[in-house]
Amino acid sequence: MNKPAEIIRREIAERGVLSFARFMELALYCPNSGYYETKKDNPGRRGDFYTSVSAGELFGQLLAFQFAAWLEELLWSRATRHSSLRLVEAGAHDGTLAKDILTWLQGARPKRFGHIEYYIIEPSLCRQEWQKETLKHFGPRVRWFSDLENLSRVTRHSSFCGILFSNELLDAMPVHRFGWDAENKKWFEWGVAVEGEKFVWARLSVQSAMRHLPTAVSHLPSSLLDVLPDGYTIENCPAAENWWRAAANTLERGRLLTIDYGLTNDELFSPGRTRGTLRAYFRHHATNDLLANIGRQDLTAHVNFSAIQSAGEACGLKTESFLTQAQFLTRILDKASKTGEFGEWSGKPARQFQMLSHPEHLGHAFRVLIQSR
Ligand SMILES: C[S@@+](CC[C@H](N)C(=O)[O-])C[C@H]1O[C@@H](n2cnc3c(N)ncnc32)[C@H](O)[C@@H]1O
Repeated sequence: MNKPAEIIRREIAERGVLSFARFMELALYCPNSGYYETKKDNPGRRGDFYTSVSAGELFGQLLAFQFAAWLEELLWSRATRHSSLRLVEAGAHDGTLAKDILTWLQGARPKRFGHIEYYIIEPSLCRQEWQKETLKHFGPRVRWFSDLENLSRVTRHSSFCGILFSNELLDAMPVHRFGWDAENKKWFEWGVAVEGEKFVWARLSVQSAMRHLPTAVSHLPSSLLDVLPDGYTIENCPAAENWWRAAANTLERGRLLTIDYGLTNDELFSPGRTRGTLRAYFRHHATNDLLANIGRQDLTAHVNFSAIQSAGEACGLKTESFLTQAQFLTRILDKASKTGEFGEWSGKPARQFQMLSHPEHLGHAFRVLIQSR
């Protein structure tokens, strides 16, 4: 048995049925042995799934173009004239996106590049090492923080102005999973237990379901609950909402942006989506066998963008836009092509753009939420 499976088994023996969120946390992030601690080559062709970053450097270049324009705006606004400008990335994995962004800024905005600090929020020492290796040419321009609290502590006296962003971070955070019990007209939370050698699904106590149930679902009208199919499945990710709140509170002036696959409340809670959105990915195949292959397959669920948007607004952020990745990148490309900075538009960049923006690839399922203060 591998290490994360061993630890999960031990926790179940000590505490009883584990929430799926805890199971997912251990399977993905167990120090030194969880999925994201050992699979450096993921995402990518040799891994289990593709992300926009693994599609090539164009994604980072387009983001860098947009970030440079936003930083310029910030610099010209009176309140930030004396502060350093910061780009903060979370969920940087092996540092490839940071490298693509910094390389473009260094080449295309050499004057501004000197004033930009690039911070990475990375709780894992192992992933910090991968990132340091990828970014070694940028020296002290890049700094690491284990979490947002740590970043706030350091930047408290110098006011945090800049852009805090992530690509596919929130969809990798641990989710709670719920089912509808039509006979008893109650939600219950799915947990994980052990049966012999195998991990199996088991129901958690009713109190636990009420504690973590998504707000949107706890207020559903009884007429709808009367016809909701037995076993209807949904997820909730308090970790993502908490993270977004902490990020919003860190930002004194600038933008908070996330790119993820996800849906709004209405899209998530629909008659066609009876099995929820949780999936496992292994060698580019999606499976529903979430309890198998522990620590060797990715586990992920769609982001609830309504919940994230509300969390940011409750912290005083203004929602600027909520777009598909295709809309977002096409707008950037329109502006960028007027400057001529992206040169000939054919061959490799055109193929990468097609992958990033085509609805059947990454263009439609991925959404971009931008909030600002
Ligand atoms: C799906 S991968 C995306 C990697 C990369 N951003 C990309 O697009 O290719 C999710 C990444 O988020 C990281 N992650 C998860 N929770 C995190 C947290 N609280 N803070 C920082 N990174 C986190 C994971 O370790 C993993 O590297």
